[in-house]
Amino acid sequence: MPIHNRLDDEAASRLWHITVRQDLPTYSLDDVQKHNAPEQGIWITFGLGVYDVTEFVPNHPGGDKIMMAAGSAIDSFWAIYQQHNTLEVLELLEGFRIGNLQKDAVAANVEEELGSPWAQEPKRNALLKPASERPFNAETPLALLGEHFYTPNELFYVRNHLPVPVIQAEQYELELDVEAGAAAGQPTRTLTLAELKALPKHSVTAAIMCGGNRRSEMTRVKPVKGLSWGPGAVGNAKWSGARLCDVLQAMGVQPNEDLHVLFEGADLDPTSHPYGASIPLSKALDPRGDVVLAYEMNEEPLNRDHGYPIRVIVPGSVGARNVKWLTRIIVADHESDSHWQQNDYKGFSPSTDWDTVDFKKAQAIQAMPVTSAICTPLPNERVKPDAEGFITVRGYAWSGGGRRIERVDLTSDGGKSWHVAQLEQETVPDGRHYGWSLWTARLPLSAEQRKQEGLEIWAKAVDSAYNVQPEAFEHIWNLRGVLANAYHKVPVKLS
Ligand code: MTE
Repeated sequence: MPIHNRLDDEAASRLWHITVRQDLPTYSLDDVQKHNAPEQGIWITFGLGVYDVTEFVPNHPGGDKIMMAAGSAIDSFWAIYQQHNTLEVLELLEGFRIGNLQKDAVAANVEEELGSPWAQEPKRNALLKPASERPFNAETPLALLGEHFYTPNELFYVRNHLPVPVIQAEQYELELDVEAGAAAGQPTRTLTLAELKALPKHSVTAAIMCGGNRRSEMTRVKPVKGLSWGPGAVGNAKWSGARLCDVLQAMGVQPNEDLHVLFEGADLDPTSHPYGASIPLSKALDPRGDVVLAYEMNEEPLNRDHGYPIRVIVPGSVGARNVKWLTRIIVADHESDSHWQQNDYKGFSPSTDWDTVDFKKAQAIQAMPVTSAICTPLPNERVKPDAEGFITVRGYAWSGGGRRIERVDLTSDGGKSWHVAQLEQETVPDGRHYGWSLWTARLPLSAEQRKQEGLEIWAKAVDSAYNVQPEAFEHIWNLRGVLANAYHKVPVKLS
C-alpha cells in the first residue's frame, strides 16, 4: 500500500517537501544559489522542494531567520528549530513552492550531517507536560505546582530554545570580559567550576517565570504567536552559587547606569550564535539584587535541563534573562544583540499587529508584573462544598522586581464579594522578596450558589506596591502573548 494511504491527511501533508510536484519545473543547486538576497529574490530548498520566500521574509515573524538559508537548504536549520514542523507552517511554506530540486542535489540526511543535535537530550520526568519536544518545552502539572513551596527539580518547567549542550564539569570555563566602563581593557579572565565554587556561597529563593506563562488564556481573545503555555511555566527554587556582584567587583567594575551585563549560553543556533540575554549593570552590581551564578538548585547540582553546570539567576526578572549553560559574561555599553533580547520578550499595545510592530521601539522585559493562578481545583473539576458550605482553593502568586505579595483576593460571584487567601511565603525584606507565595482560601458558597451546577472562581493578587492584576486579557493582549497576568478565572462544576 502506498505510504500516504496509511496516513491521515495531516501526516500526508507533512510529506509535501519530499514529494516531486509534477506540475512544477526542476531547478539545480546553482539556480537556487543565485537567489540569495532580496534584489535577486530569496529562494530556499527544503527536502525536494524549491521555494520562493521573497514575499515571506519581510512580512513574517522569524522571516529574518530564513535569511540564514537564503540560496540554500533550510533542512539543517529546521532540524534544530523543530517548532516549524507543524502542519500550519508546512502548509504556509508549500504555498511558496515554485519547483523541485534536482534529485542528486538533495541534502543528505540532515540529522546525520549535524551529528544529530537532539541525540544527547537529558531524560525527563514523565509527569512534565510538553508544549514542544524539540526543543524541549514543558510545564509542571498545575495540581502538583501548588503542592510544593520549592518546586521539585525534576518537575520544574523547562524552556529550551535549542538542543541541550553537553558540558563536562572538568572542562567548563566561564569567560569574563569588560568592554566598557572604568575597568575596560583588562585581559579576558576565566573561572573554572572549582574556582566559582571556592567563592563565598550565596543562596536566594527565586521564582522563575517564562514571559509567556498563561499565554493560552490570552490566545482566547485573539491568536498570538508562541508556545501555548498554561499557568505552569513557572517554578520556585532555592538557588545557590557565587554572587555576580562579587565576581564583577573583583574585576574592578564600578557602578555605571549606562552599562549592561551580557550573558551567553553554550547552546548554539545553526549559525553558531549562542543563546544570549542581558540585564542592566545596576541590577548585577546591587548586592540586594541577589544575582547568582548558580551551581545548585534546591541544594542539588543543577540538572542538565536547568543549566548544568552554571546558570545565572536574575531574581525578579523574566525567565529569559536567567541564561543557562553560562559560558561568557561581558560588561558592555549596549544590551545583548541576541534575538531574545532585541526581537522577542517585549510588550506592545493591543492594537499593534505584525504589520506595524517595531521591536526596536519597545523595552526588553526585565521585572515581571504581578500575577497569580489557581492550581486547584482544576478547570471544570467537580468540587463538593464541605459541611459548612465552603470550597478550598489553592494557588500561587508572584510579582517581579522583588515585590512581596501583599494579598490574594478570590471571588465566586463575579466580584460582588471577595475573600482574602492565607499566604505561605518567605520572611525576607520587601524589595528583595524574589520567591513566590503559595496561598489557600476557603470560599463560602451561598445557599443559592450551592444549587447551581457550576460557577467560576476568580483570583487576583496585589503586590507590595499595590499593583494589582488587570481584570481581563482584552486590554493587555499583545501579539507575542507575553505578560499575560489578568485575573485567573477557573470554571468548576458543583456536586
Ligand atoms: N538559557 C539558555 N542558554 N537557553 C535557553 O533556551 N531559555 C530561557 C532561560 N535561559 C534559555 C535560557 C527562558 S525563555 C526561560 S523561561 C528560562 O531559561 C527557563 O528556565 P528553565 O528551563 O530552567 O525553567
